[in-house]
Amino acid sequence: MKDQLVSLKEKILSELAQIKQLSALENLENQFLGRKGELTNLLKRLPEVAVTERKAIGQLANEIKVELTGRVAEVREKFESHKAQSAVDATLPGLDLPRGHLHPMTIVQKELEELFMSMGFAILDGPELESDYYNFEGLNIPPHHPARDMQDTFYIDKKNKDDEYDLVMRTQTSSVQVRAMQKYGAPLRCAIPGRCFRSEATDVRHEHTFYQLEGLMVDKNISFANMKGVLEAVAQRLYGPETKVRLRPKFYPFVEPGSNGEVTCFLCKGQGCRLCKQTGWLEVFGSGMVHPNVLKAGGIDPTKYQGFAFGFGLTRLVMLKYNINDIRLLQSSDIRFLEQF
Ligand code: DAH
Repeated sequence: MKDQLVSLKEKILSELAQIKQLSALENLENQFLGRKGELTNLLKRLPEVAVTERKAIGQLANEIKVELTGRVAEVREKFESHKAQSAVDATLPGLDLPRGHLHPMTIVQKELEELFMSMGFAILDGPELESDYYNFEGLNIPPHHPARDMQDTFYIDKKNKDDEYDLVMRTQTSSVQVRAMQKYGAPLRCAIPGRCFRSEATDVRHEHTFYQLEGLMVDKNISFANMKGVLEAVAQRLYGPETKVRLRPKFYPFVEPGSNGEVTCFLCKGQGCRLCKQTGWLEVFGSGMVHPNVLKAGGIDPTKYQGFAFGFGLTRLVMLKYNINDIRLLQSSDIRFLEQF
């Protein structure tokens, strides 16, 4: 019986070594170790063994059983951990990819585009590298006019030596006014958001690249009152229905009369605070009735048509809206800043 036990053990061990599947392992367990298995049957015959040997054989049988059960458990564990690793669970949520969002400048620009479109304004675009003519001269700013000093820009060499005008990085979206009039004629209603450039020493309030939004309306019988109406609609959309607009005379070469537009401070509602320097008003746009010379440059007869134009710093508006205290953050691509919007 002792030999039978030992050879059965060898047999079981060698079969165990060949096992490649969990189901085969279960079969093996049934065949040898289960209630009707070969080893169990052999042990049932223990009483047949001579009394003198019974104890030793019993002990051996027990050791073999413990060893085999242990080995089977080891193999099972190997299978199960492998199964867990290779299984695909289609019900698990997918990888959570970080999702981008619009830049604060774009958010405000889109909101304003919607507003202007709802008032019948076309949204136009224009070149950022512009001819001196559209950026200055066509806007009634001749070459040596002192108004150029306020908008120091990046001059770029002419494409051809005999081109009439220098090229400049546009300093204002007003540069699209004459282009729009030439292209579409009168009547005309358009809004032009876009990037502008000035040769600035940068600090928290100045940046060489910034955004403006220009508005232009040309038609018969257009008055200063029409302009104020449109500006009020814009200001109220931006800062709430109680916002008031105040216009005060200011010189801009391309409008006559020209005005400086202020809105009641959204922070203190006109009471006076740190943001509005205790005045209750925030200066946000330039505006006025389009100068006859500018209409002429655009091919429009100033005796038949009038128009108004206004422009504001979109960048400044975004800074006010989101309480951003350093203009340079807007172009910094700093994720810690951008993630806050
Ligand atoms: N382009 C002017 C600037 O950059 C702003 C401006 C003033 C635009 C008056 C206008 C206007 O259309 O009528 O300072």
